[in-house]
Amino acid sequence: MKLMVVCFLFQAVLCREFSITLPESVEALRGLCVLIPCRFQIEEQYDKDLQRDPTGIWLLNGTDVNSNKVFNSKVTTENKIEGEIIGDLLMKNCTTIFYNIRKRDRGKYYFRLEYEGLKYNYRPPVSLRVRDSPIRPSITLYKEDQGEVEDQNEVVEGTSVSLICSAPSAPCLLNPPTFTWNFLPEERRQEQNHNTSFSSSQLNFNATHLHHGLTFTCTTTYQLQNQNKSARSSRTLHVLYAPQISSSSSCNRSQDLIMCSCEVHGNPSPTLEWRLSGHTVSPSEVISIWRKSSRSFISIHQSVKDTPTLQCVGSNNLGVNTLLFNFIILDRNTAELYLVLSLSVVLLLSVGVIGFLIYKLKQLSKKIKVLERGDTYASLELSAVQNSDYETLQTNRERREKKNNI
Ligand SMILES: *[C@@H]1O[C@H](CO)[C@@H](O)[C@H](O)[C@H]1NC(C)=O
Ligand SMILES: *[C@@H]1O[C@H](CO)[C@@H](O)[C@H](O)[C@H]1NC(C)=O
Ligand SMILES: *[C@@H]1O[C@H](CO)[C@@H](O)[C@H](O)[C@H]1NC(C)=O
Ligand SMILES: *[C@@H]1O[C@H](CO)[C@@H](O)[C@H](O)[C@H]1NC(C)=O
Ligand SMILES: *[C@@H]1O[C@H](CO)[C@@H](O)[C@H](O)[C@H]1NC(C)=O
Ligand SMILES: *[C@@H]1O[C@H](CO)[C@@H](O)[C@H](O)[C@H]1NC(C)=O
Repeated sequence: MKLMVVCFLFQAVLCREFSITLPESVEALRGLCVLIPCRFQIEEQYDKDLQRDPTGIWLLNGTDVNSNKVFNSKVTTENKIEGEIIGDLLMKNCTTIFYNIRKRDRGKYYFRLEYEGLKYNYRPPVSLRVRDSPIRPSITLYKEDQGEVEDQNEVVEGTSVSLICSAPSAPCLLNPPTFTWNFLPEERRQEQNHNTSFSSSQLNFNATHLHHGLTFTCTTTYQLQNQNKSARSSRTLHVLYAPQISSSSSCNRSQDLIMCSCEVHGNPSPTLEWRLSGHTVSPSEVISIWRKSSRSFISIHQSVKDTPTLQCVGSNNLGVNTLLFNFIILDRNTAELYLVLSLSVVLLLSVGVIGFLIYKLKQLSKKIKVLERGDTYASLELSAVQNSDYETLQTNRERREKKNNI
């Protein structure tokens, strides 16, 4: 009686009993592995023999060695479940990993210890549950300050968004699953998080119209004992953005027909209108407008005299974008006239400059001659000549100006 009380108080130290420390239950993902932390105790008298090569055995749904044995750490050929005792049995550590879990592996697992001089079935068992859902990752979309984006996957351009791909992990894995994205935005921040039950890869970026309609696919790869398992999941991003007019929009002209095309993109799909000298145009006898997907065409029969401005205007609820087509309507005859006029001006200017230079040269040579002779009278005469010349220039110009005004 006294001994029992002492045993109760100092159980671990003095009077060790057969006991096992196991979780009540563990959960495995179908196709992955499971880790069962395990420690056992034996009565002190068996300690000596434990050092003689013990065998760890797992029994399923019962403790009959013949009918319930599914795993033997020594003789693996008949094992019904793949696995490994990773703990050191000599250290009373029976931690086990079972690989490649199938649905039918669920049940209650009893640990049995065997060595020369001891065969012992431990209780209680550990219950193995198998989660049947496939090991697919899931992608969630978070908007800046607005939390999770539910059904529509819609974000406004410029919003900072996070795509988080998360996948189940397990402590039995040698490495956490790896993540790969099919597309990485040019400017992004990326981070990975791992704990014993979840791993995730987070992609942060600012949504631009270039991301509209893009399908982000996240692939997770699990490195298992003898194979690599991959699974993937996708999410399409819808970016709302103001109209953008494509740089391929342009005009050309043949004779009296002006033809322009304007391409505009946006989400929601923008409306597109043409404005001629500020007024919205609609098709008429001289104007035809037609559309091919996001591109609108206009052709105008235009008389030479008017010089209209033409604008292409795209609008949706996020904004308006306008492109002004820069064309000065030039008739061929007018163009020639301008050319002749500008050439004449250039010609006149050159004649003037050359004439002036010749005059200056003459003047200089005369001066030199006068100086050589030392004649002051000649020099006076020269200045008189200069003045009269100036007068004639003046009158010439006046006459020319009068002519221009006619
Ligand atoms: C048992 O062995 C496993 C695998 O080597 C180890 O991770 C664990 O820490 C051990 N447990 C104890 C209590 O020593
Ligand atoms: C073990 O028991 C579980 C639950 O009772 C059962 O689903 C499973 O099929 C049993 N396994 C075997 C091999 O009998
Ligand atoms: C692991 O991370 C997930 C998601 O972040 C969290 O829900 C879960 O509680 C974490 N588990 C542990 C054991 O830390
Ligand atoms: C998003 O834009 C903000 C403001 O322009 C900038 O501070 C931030 O670094 C950007 N985020 C990323 C992931 O590029
Ligand atoms: C699994 O993937 C890893 C890393 O990519 C590679 O080193 C290893 O050889 C692969 N194993 C198998 C069985 O394909
Ligand atoms: C003129 O522009 C229209 C519309 O942009 C195009 O269909 C046509 O082929 C162009 N014609 C020429 C001669 O470039």
